[in-house]
Amino acid sequence: MSLPRRLAAPPATWERDVDVVVLGSGAAGLSAALAVRPVRSVLVVTKDILSAGSTQWAQGGLAGVLDPSDTIENHVRDTLEAGAGLCDEDVVRELVTEAPKSIRYLMRLGAAFDPEQGGTDIALTREGGHSHNRIVHSGGDRSGAEVQRTLDESAIGAGVDVLGHAFALDLLLGTGADGERQAVGVRIGKTDEHGVLVSVGVVTARAVVIASGGYGQVFASTSNPPAVTGDGVAMALRAGLPVTDVEFVQFHPTVMWRGPDAVGQQALVSEAVRGEGAILYDGAGDRVMLGVHPLEDLAPRDVVAAAISRRMAEAPGGVDDHVYLDATHMGERFHERFPSITEACREIGLDPAIDRIPVAPAAHYACGGIRAGLDGSTSLRGLYAVGEVSATGVHGANRLASNSLTESVVAGTRVGRDLAWELPDRVPIDIEIDDPMDHRLLDPARLREVRAVMSRHVGVLRDEMSLSSAAGALGSIAHGMGSAKRTGAIDDEVRVEPSRRTWEGTNILTVASAVVAAARTRHESRGCHRRSDFPEPRAEWLRHLDVTLAADGALDVSDRPHT
Ligand code: SIN
Repeated sequence: MSLPRRLAAPPATWERDVDVVVLGSGAAGLSAALAVRPVRSVLVVTKDILSAGSTQWAQGGLAGVLDPSDTIENHVRDTLEAGAGLCDEDVVRELVTEAPKSIRYLMRLGAAFDPEQGGTDIALTREGGHSHNRIVHSGGDRSGAEVQRTLDESAIGAGVDVLGHAFALDLLLGTGADGERQAVGVRIGKTDEHGVLVSVGVVTARAVVIASGGYGQVFASTSNPPAVTGDGVAMALRAGLPVTDVEFVQFHPTVMWRGPDAVGQQALVSEAVRGEGAILYDGAGDRVMLGVHPLEDLAPRDVVAAAISRRMAEAPGGVDDHVYLDATHMGERFHERFPSITEACREIGLDPAIDRIPVAPAAHYACGGIRAGLDGSTSLRGLYAVGEVSATGVHGANRLASNSLTESVVAGTRVGRDLAWELPDRVPIDIEIDDPMDHRLLDPARLREVRAVMSRHVGVLRDEMSLSSAAGALGSIAHGMGSAKRTGAIDDEVRVEPSRRTWEGTNILTVASAVVAAARTRHESRGCHRRSDFPEPRAEWLRHLDVTLAADGALDVSDRPHT
């Protein structure tokens, strides 16, 4: 397989210089921009509008110890248990300790979290894997939208500059006086609102913060919105950085099932619904989680997703592609507590107060990504990664529910504050010898195939046969990528115009290939990576996998011990 080392685009015609450029506009990116803004010039680059990413869609909320009967150690223990041996305990403790502060910070910025019924204290709910009620929420199940609104208004109010409909193509690298390589900016494809290329430019900066989210759209069925296409992970690979533990794709157990042909973003049915006592049943009316885990329906989500997948494979009652979530014990209270889910149910003619909701697992969260500290620092000077795009050691092999918005605010704020204090030295861009237009792009007509391959062969349950089929199929799709240059030399060569769609498609193929390469290498089941040919975790696999993109466009996978 040979994957492109650059995203094809014509030469740059404009330039802009700032202290800090932030790529992405969800909770992590905006927290960073807001924290750095008082003393630095900062530009947020988003390929769409500010709220197009995953933050806006988060239902559950933010996890943090606010109840006096709960403790930091409880939250640490739950996070480590969900992470299945691959979390970094020190980093988890740092995050969990800062979590309550980050929630109070959002409240000071104006976030309205739901109060307890009839009271003034903040209401705390529970989700899978949590031993205590510790999740704050807003508007019932509109928690992410409130966080996005709060940060949008705060960042704009603070004078953060935003470049919308601007696709971050590739990092620009320089070399410091000490000979060390450094990120010094980013090449941008400015598009119109339909994603058609308008111009290419260069933004130079002393620090580049990648906060571009995960890669749920690599799969045919996902809870993630259309913009979540793995752009940051693919960009890091092209810059020669390793990406870590990308095989740990978390499948949310309960995404609304709207029929066998439904593809793209599907409505989430929050884990908080099970937190309120809802129960999973199979097509024959038997409970799915009984006897599977001591926490039953509130087991960590990797356990629930795997149990549902196994049960669907048995096709009880002839139903092999979904199960049912019964929240009817809540009655009419469901409508008020979960307004977005109620709306999604009504769209398919159901009332969750009286009907069971058809659900199935779907791609939800990337536990791996660009290896970074909780302060965003990466192995490349001048480059920082925060939020879902990063792998900080908080999530290990499986993220604990509602730790992600918390991590985004903590890590984003921390990187912003650090960069306000100190920036790397300014370094000129290294002269680039290759022409980006020489690199190939994915024909968007083949994107559906990539996603179908990933959902069919690299879903909740995997094995060598399914993964090698996926690798073969992706390899042949990569082989058929098109040329961006009109040389006229070969008549039947596929031509692909640089545009948001073709850049996203190329990123999706790149990330899908990295996920498959890592998933094939990890010969065990751990957290949200489940292999039916290696059904148990194995002590010798208490290791991390790093995938890199070599100069010839091939992917290399190496492992290192978990310390
Ligand atoms: C949910 O509400 O179930 C999703 C929360 C999360 O993914 O953390």
